[in-house]
Amino acid sequence: MIWHLVIFLFLIQIQGLALGQNEGPIVDTDIRTPEGPAATLYQFIPRDPAPVTFVLEGEVENAFQIQEHGIFRSTRLLDRETKNLYRLWVKTVNDEGRVIEGPSAVNVFVEDINDNVPIFNQSEYYGEAREKSRPGKTIIRVSATDADDPETPNAQLVYKIVYQIPDTKIMYFQINNHSGEISLTLNGSQLVDVHTEDSYELTVSVSDLSVRPFSANTKVVIKITENIWKSPSPITIVENSTEPHPIKITQVQWNDEGAIYEIHQRDKFRRFPFTIDQDGNINVTEPLDREEQSLYIFSAFAKNQNGIAFMRAIDIEVNVQDINDNPPTCPGPVTIFEIQENELVGSFIGELAATDLDEPGSRNALLRFRIVSQNPKIPEDGMFFLDEISGSFRLIKSGLDIDDVDLYIIKVNVTDQGSGLHPALSTLCEVHIKVIDVNDQIPIFETSDYGNVTVSEGLPLQTVIFEIQATDADQQFTGSSEIIYEIEEGEHKHLFVIDTDKETNRGYVKIFLPLDYETSKMHKLVIHARNPEPLFTGVEYNDSSITHLKVIVTDVDEVPQFESSILQKQVSEDIPIGTLLIKVVAIDPEGDDVIFGLKGDKRNWLWINETTGDIYTNAELDRETESSYQVQVTAKERKNPSMSSSVYLHIYLDDVNDNAPTLSSSYNGPVYCNPLSKPESLIFEGVDADSTPRNRGIRFSLVADEETNKNWTLSFVNITHAKLSMNHNYFPIGIHRVPVTLTDTGRPPLTSVVYVPVTICACSSDNHCISDSVEESFGKPSVGMALGILFGVLGVIGIIVAAVFISIDQKKKKQTKAPTSDAANATETVRLAS
Ligand SMILES: *[C@@H]1O[C@H](CO)[C@@H](O)[C@H](O)[C@H]1NC(C)=O
Ligand SMILES: *[C@@H]1O[C@H](CO)[C@@H](O)[C@H](O)[C@H]1NC(C)=O
Ligand SMILES: *[C@@H]1O[C@H](CO)[C@@H](O)[C@H](O)[C@H]1NC(C)=O
Ligand SMILES: *[C@@H]1O[C@H](CO)[C@@H](O)[C@H](O)[C@H]1NC(C)=O
Ligand SMILES: *[C@@H]1O[C@H](CO)[C@@H](O)[C@H](O)[C@H]1NC(C)=O
Ligand SMILES: *[C@@H]1O[C@H](CO)[C@@H](O)[C@H](O)[C@H]1NC(C)=O
Ligand SMILES: *[C@@H]1O[C@H](CO)[C@@H](O)[C@H](O)[C@H]1NC(C)=O
Ligand SMILES: *[C@@H]1O[C@H](CO)[C@@H](O)[C@H](O)[C@H]1NC(C)=O
Ligand SMILES: *[C@@H]1O[C@H](CO)[C@@H](O)[C@H](O)[C@H]1NC(C)=O
Ligand SMILES: *[C@@H]1O[C@H](CO)[C@@H](O)[C@H](O)[C@H]1NC(C)=O
Ligand SMILES: *[C@@H]1O[C@H](CO)[C@@H](O)[C@H](O)[C@H]1NC(C)=O
Repeated sequence: MIWHLVIFLFLIQIQGLALGQNEGPIVDTDIRTPEGPAATLYQFIPRDPAPVTFVLEGEVENAFQIQEHGIFRSTRLLDRETKNLYRLWVKTVNDEGRVIEGPSAVNVFVEDINDNVPIFNQSEYYGEAREKSRPGKTIIRVSATDADDPETPNAQLVYKIVYQIPDTKIMYFQINNHSGEISLTLNGSQLVDVHTEDSYELTVSVSDLSVRPFSANTKVVIKITENIWKSPSPITIVENSTEPHPIKITQVQWNDEGAIYEIHQRDKFRRFPFTIDQDGNINVTEPLDREEQSLYIFSAFAKNQNGIAFMRAIDIEVNVQDINDNPPTCPGPVTIFEIQENELVGSFIGELAATDLDEPGSRNALLRFRIVSQNPKIPEDGMFFLDEISGSFRLIKSGLDIDDVDLYIIKVNVTDQGSGLHPALSTLCEVHIKVIDVNDQIPIFETSDYGNVTVSEGLPLQTVIFEIQATDADQQFTGSSEIIYEIEEGEHKHLFVIDTDKETNRGYVKIFLPLDYETSKMHKLVIHARNPEPLFTGVEYNDSSITHLKVIVTDVDEVPQFESSILQKQVSEDIPIGTLLIKVVAIDPEGDDVIFGLKGDKRNWLWINETTGDIYTNAELDRETESSYQVQVTAKERKNPSMSSSVYLHIYLDDVNDNAPTLSSSYNGPVYCNPLSKPESLIFEGVDADSTPRNRGIRFSLVADEETNKNWTLSFVNITHAKLSMNHNYFPIGIHRVPVTLTDTGRPPLTSVVYVPVTICACSSDNHCISDSVEESFGKPSVGMALGILFGVLGVIGIIVAAVFISIDQKKKKQTKAPTSDAANATETVRLAS
């Protein structure tokens, strides 16, 4: 009330000023008046006090009148949007009708007040945004107009996104407040994902910039379309192509135009004959060779003008398809086999290991062998059989005699099978079969026991740990005197390998698999010496061809070993503090005690028993903070803590129902004009922050008090929405907060009581809400936009009229919070009776 008094005094002052300005002699006069209802505008003062009659001419249009004493007034509502300038003439005449003064021109300028609501040019807007597209790129432009004077803030509009559904905590969309262009934010560009959410609904508001602005809302639906920046399917190119190059092989495309494309090799290829152009076309520039590189995988980048990649690179995979462009190759210029003079018919001699560079397993590399010639043909031709498929030689005739022939030269035709347009290719290979003396001597070891050799368990593979020697008296440098050392079958046979020096027959004992002191401290090796050629009938290997070696493994301190290299656990987020999550097992190979610890427990959620490895919760876990949690578990030797190892533990938290449903925080409810012509109904939404569908579903019910039940009915729409209907239509002005219980479908369910606001307000004749009436009756800021106009008129006593026109676009059911300025609270509200 104090405010009202202050304003009253303030208004009187303004009137005082108006008195001085709003009168004058009958001369050409410009009068400015804000649009509005009938009012006194001016007083013309005649030169001569003698009684005269005032006459008004021109565009009077039933809108103006001049009365006794020259009082000039409007007689009906003046609307700037209809007509903003009236050209009138005023004169005075005496009783006889003679003009005393004038005519003088009177121009009435009707000035704008904010009496028009901005209007969107569409009731809904639809746009499409591509995942990962450039932030700031216009998706859709909303546009509103305001009929007020474009020269004034009354018609200057500012756009805003009020609400985004689904409500991500960070905004994915932004609007240019001046142009209405909607685009993705940086976060939106990175985070929208068609698989998570394929469309968003925005509520966009527009309001003018006057002191008491009007606003309107619209709905903008934005469909998300898929990111097209992805690897094309693998490409196959036939090698050694004769087509003119370059040839386009595929195309990649960034989600927006203007990207700069690049390709880069990941592995270093001998040649890299690929290019990309600025449309993303990838060409191959020269024929490829499968035998050089059968598979190219390289990366394509899309970058901005500053050379920064928009997103991770994508892989391009090019397979090179084989053609039969390689003949078979012989293992060497000459392949040498040996055969003992006394060899039996049918004996295996050797296998011709020819190869073909074309694709293994294909017909292009499938080989067939055929003997073309044998030289000399002594004792006859066809001494040898060659297996067509395997390339192995056998003796098929008897009569070898080292004194007649000690070398046969065999020519072999090796051919592949070819395919399609590419016929078979062949090669001639030369094979020498040497006839050697019989193998009637066995290898003899220099000693039958080499004693002990001591090695430590950490030694690298292939380390030579010992040398052995045996000798053979057969013909030198033949398969009869060459020695192969073999370790007798036994549990540790494969830990070692023995290589032979072909010149000296010296044997080198090497480590083949890692030695482990903890598994076995000693290996007893029994070593046999053998010839590749079979022994002459009647000769046998005896104990002189066997020796012994003991390998003693010494210990090296090793770090504790975890039982499993990955630990993971899935738990419900509401498990009590102190729950045992998992038992970690780690054992020191040397049997030392192990001490466990945790690293990277940044939320201090866990605790580990350092002797048992049991991990417990140390705090309440919260899926809404960390949906998956990772820590490192360490294990150290008690005696030597520097010997330590670690594994990662991943904890996945399951949602539990720990959020009760509520109304969306920005929900303001609908606004209706009083009196209601019929009972209305509205649909509202409940929200629940939990993630699993069961914990999110909502049941709605009215709080069952008699008054509420009398006035309202609630009905089910679906698991997120309910419909609230009025049972009658005589609700008083004010904000009616209807108590509704929201219960989610979690087990156990959580419940909250919310108050759904329904605003009933006094409205102007054109169905615009006068929100101050609501504010006043409830004393709190509310929906609604307001504007006051103020003008004064001369009278004998100052007449004070302060008028406030407030409207709300009644058609928009869902309104947003209006800025509540001090001016709004401080202005006396008088509804005009006229
Ligand atoms: C609304 O305005 C926008 C932006 O000026 C324009 O693109 C669109 O066509 C308009 N819509 C209608 C229905 O006029
Ligand atoms: C509109 O946006 C510009 C910058 O984007 C800002 O400077 C200005 O204050 C905003 N205007 C209103 C009325 O919010
Ligand atoms: C994106 O979101 C993060 C919070 O997740 C925020 O810190 C950051 O400021 C946002 N970036 C922009 C450009 O809005
Ligand atoms: C390409 O094919 C021709 C015959 O078809 C062959 O002579 C040539 O060696 C091949 N080139 C390569 C690189 O394989
Ligand atoms: C790529 O190859 C196509 C023909 O397949 C050719 O028209 C184009 O000019 C080539 N582009 C470049 C950059 O070489
Ligand atoms: C190998 O044999 C095939 C068919 O028998 C023949 O066509 C080819 O010319 C021969 N190749 C050589 C190198 O003699
Ligand atoms: C070889 O090692 C065995 C077992 O450790 C031991 O009994 C033997 O005395 C050692 N022999 C020599 C010659 O060191
Ligand atoms: C093994 O045979 C050779 C003759 O071939 C003979 O000299 C040697 O004494 C034999 N060794 C044993 C342990 O019998
Ligand atoms: C760790 O577990 C062992 C065996 O259950 C127990 O005796 C010991 O007290 C525990 N340590 C701590 C610090 O609680
Ligand atoms: C119920 O309606 C009556 C008018 O019939 C009204 O006076 C009362 O305030 C309403 N109560 C509620 C809680 O809406
Ligand atoms: C529930 O109903 C509302 C209003 O009709 C609708 O917008 C929403 O998509 C519906 N939700 C589901 C999950 O059906």
